[in-house]
Amino acid sequence: MTVLEDSAFVRACRGLPGSHTPVWFMRQAGRSLPEYRKIREGIPMLESCRRPELVTEITLQPVRRHNVDAAILYSDIVVPIAAAGIDLDIVPGTGPVVGTPVRTAKDLERLRPITADDVDYVAESVRLLVAELGATPLIGFAGAPFTLASYLIEGGPSRTYLKTKAMMYGEPELWDALMSRLAGITLSFLRTQIDAGVSAVQLFDSWAGALSEADYRRHVMPYSADVLRGLLDAGVPRIHFGVGTAVLLEAMGEAGADVVGVDWRTPLDVATKRIGPDRAVQGNLDPAILFAGWDVVEREARRVLEQGRSAPGHVFNLGHGVMPETDPDVLTRLTALVHEVTG
Ligand code: CP3
Repeated sequence: MTVLEDSAFVRACRGLPGSHTPVWFMRQAGRSLPEYRKIREGIPMLESCRRPELVTEITLQPVRRHNVDAAILYSDIVVPIAAAGIDLDIVPGTGPVVGTPVRTAKDLERLRPITADDVDYVAESVRLLVAELGATPLIGFAGAPFTLASYLIEGGPSRTYLKTKAMMYGEPELWDALMSRLAGITLSFLRTQIDAGVSAVQLFDSWAGALSEADYRRHVMPYSADVLRGLLDAGVPRIHFGVGTAVLLEAMGEAGADVVGVDWRTPLDVATKRIGPDRAVQGNLDPAILFAGWDVVEREARRVLEQGRSAPGHVFNLGHGVMPETDPDVLTRLTALVHEVTG
């Protein structure tokens, strides 16, 4: 384990003062970069995640280009699910699509627990990256049990999470078995990345915002808390993120995060009041603002920085991932602006 404690990023995660406010962008690697589109030509998404040299190059692309303060491992939340035996594909423009959805106890047999050997290419990618990155921290990540369950049960992306919620409310034993199995897979996937040398991890519960606070606390939070608690002794900062989570922020902090990721709907000072004074925040410029012209980007970035000062630590980011159509030069300029304003 090699947590880069002196980096601006890790210090902000720990709520310690640093040389400047660190910046990285969710989905900084990917289709906004022409060099990414070129290197991915003809290689399916999941296949690309299993080639350590390619993973290393794609992960490094945005670090070289934007001068961000952290790299995020190029992979996907469904990689460990595929390694666990589920037949799935990542369809361009759609997202993860599951061949046969998991809806019964019998279906659950197809979701095996995983060991480090099942994702050895991920550990190898992390080792290669840590060697290349030097003083720049690498963030590992995984999908949280609820967000993964939604893909498995629905069979693909969903707007209503109807089948997921039907199982959650109507078949509590099956729900518990599925969520427990997913928590184990997620913990194992994150442990593998930590053992190989990542400096922090982010748990993506992207779609948890579909739930009320009461249902989140009752049906989802215990499983995410198991994952986060299972990482406590590893000593790496743990970031917990979801979209549309205004009413869940307090619970997501309580689930065991060191840093709570906030989307653009909740100002960071308001978020900090809800989360409490002992956790750092990450976020939260609306990714759409990057399309509005530089003056607007600068004004809004300064507002986010100002509101972020109310938390013990602030990691500057977008409120969700970089859109594929984003002009990458705006991200480079935005990174420089945050460094300049806070340095
Ligand atoms: O730079 C990074 O952020 C690192 C890589 C990363 C990817 N997926 C690569 C990827 C990360 C952190 C993820 C996480 C992920 N994957 C999440 C959580 C983050 C979030 O956005 O809320 C989710 C929900 C997924 C599932 C998924 N995979 C979706 C919704 C999509 C987009 C589908 C599309 O084509 O619009 C993917 C595919 C995917 N994952 C791409 C990348 C670079 C695009 C695939 C391509 O380039 O063809």
